[in-house]
Amino acid sequence: MAWYKIAEPSDLSKPFLKKISAGGKSLCLVNADGELSVTAAKCPHAGADLSQGWCENGRLICPFHRYAYDLKTGRGAPGQNDYVRIYPVENRADGIYVQVKSWLEKLTGK
Ligand code: FES
Repeated sequence: MAWYKIAEPSDLSKPFLKKISAGGKSLCLVNADGELSVTAAKCPHAGADLSQGWCENGRLICPFHRYAYDLKTGRGAPGQNDYVRIYPVENRADGIYVQVKSWLEKLTGK
């Protein structure tokens, strides 16, 4: 697993939701109430772009059918029976980093 820098140091006092890419993956970087999360960008329900959604009460809301996903666990709201993948994220002095498997690690299985 490799760490990728995905954003410059950011002011976390303002919420944001951005589509980013790292390690060949499309991801969604979220700052909700000063807490950073990184999710897969594709909604597990029907593939909508979650970066076009919004946050409510610690959940990321999909813009298509308004399914909700917990920003810490990725678990869907009760009754959805699904989840979105969550990736490790760190706010470092020189920027924001996410940990994902690189395409080479996926190819070689290491
Ligand atoms: S595509 Fe996201 S809730 Fe349906």
